This record gives sequence, C-alpha cells and structure tokens, in this order.
Amino acid sequence: MDDAVAYSSAISVAAVELIPADYFAPLDLALIFRQAAPLEIDLGCGDGTLLTGLAEKFPERNFLGIERLLGRVRSACGKAARKKLPNVRILRIESTYAVQHLLPSKSIDVVHLLFPDPWPKKRHHRRRIVTGDFLAAVHRILVPGGRLRIATDQADYFETIRELVSVSAFREEAADEQEIFPLTTFEKQFIAERAPIYRLRLRTIA
Ligand SMILES: C[S@@+](CC[C@H](N)C(=O)[O-])C[C@H]1O[C@@H](n2cnc3c(N)ncnc32)[C@H](O)[C@@H]1O
Repeated sequence: MDDAVAYSSAISVAAVELIPADYFAPLDLALIFRQAAPLEIDLGCGDGTLLTGLAEKFPERNFLGIERLLGRVRSACGKAARKKLPNVRILRIESTYAVQHLLPSKSIDVVHLLFPDPWPKKRHHRRRIVTGDFLAAVHRILVPGGRLRIATDQADYFETIRELVSVSAFREEAADEQEIFPLTTFEKQFIAERAPIYRLRLRTIA
C-alpha cells in the first residue's frame, strides 16, 4: 500500500468522536457520516464491541454509539480508529437526551439497547432507562417498520419492559435464527457465567 492510500484509509480517534456544534438542535446526519446509508444506533455502547463488530460486518450501513462514560467513549473510539471504520461515530451523551432531542424523527433503522444498567434494588428502579416515555421517544426516531433490540440479565426488568411494550406502538417479533449479531462485552461475560439472558426483538407498529 503506498503512503497516499495508507493516509486516506487512516482514521484518528478524534475523528470518530462526534461533538455536535449545537447540543440543542437535531443532528444533521448527512454531515456526520461519509456515506448516505441506513443508520443503526447502540445506546449505552460501552467499549464499542458490538458497534465496531456490526460496522465491520455491514460496511454499507452507518453506526452511531451513544455512551455517557468518558473512559468507555475513548475505548470505543480507539477500537473504531484501529479497525479503520469510516462508518462509525461515537457521541458522549445521555441516551435519553439523544433520543428525545438530538436524533431526528424517522432517522434510525435499528436501535440496539444491550444490557442497560440494571439497577436491581427496588428503590433504584426509577433510574432504569426503559419507561413508557423512553419507548415513545425511540419509536419517534425509528423509520416505519424500524426495530428495537433489547437484552437484559434481569428477569424483573424484562417483565417490566414487556408490560410497557404491550401498551406501546411496538410489537414483539420472534427471533430470526439467520440473524447473528456480534456479542457485546457484557453478553460475553454473562454467557461465560451461564447467567440468564432475556431478549426482546421489537418492531414499530405503523
Ligand atoms: C451494563 S453496560 C453494557 C454495555 C454494552 N452495551 C454491553 O452490552 O457490553 C451499560 C452501559 O450503558 C451506559 N449507560 C448507562 N446509562 C446510560 C445513559 N443514560 N446514557 C448513556 N449511556 C448509559 C453505561 O455507562 C455502560 O457503559
């Protein structure tokens, strides 16, 4: 590979992190990615393992990771830069804020929410991210027929989410055995511990 080609394919860590010019206006997604393509987002993307795995597998799609912890944002940006993935951006912000205020309506094909913070103690349940309002906000940003994938290791959280879904504008779908997703870091850990994993595959109702 000559120097010019090597230079053009390099991606810096700083270039992966998305720092909006205006935190009070919807993102202009056409300016954020190099290609116009369907967009998937990973809420609470952690170290970016799922996001970069998907981006490698589907170079014709765009992927936006949202994560509030600085260290994890750095890890995720580093992974995307090392793998030279032009179709990945990472935004450091609260997922709920991004979904409610930064992402345009009908702009996202798939939302991944894998192992959201569990808040297992009853007095902390109100901190859990999935609420009726959250589902309505996710519905707003999805394209018609868009999908929401959720996984958790908490049985009671899963049941609560299913109840919220039953009165939402989403319907549950059976898992598609043909569709294999890269494992997330937490998923690998739960599998190694043989912990239960509860999954939901949702699609918007028109
Ligand atoms: C249990 S970890 C799971 C990480 C990753 N999804 C995985 O499966 O490996 C939850 C992640 O969500 C992030 N997180 C939790 N609440 C968040 C919020 N409201 N906004 C953005 N990130 C959040 C945490 O910082 C953490 O990285």
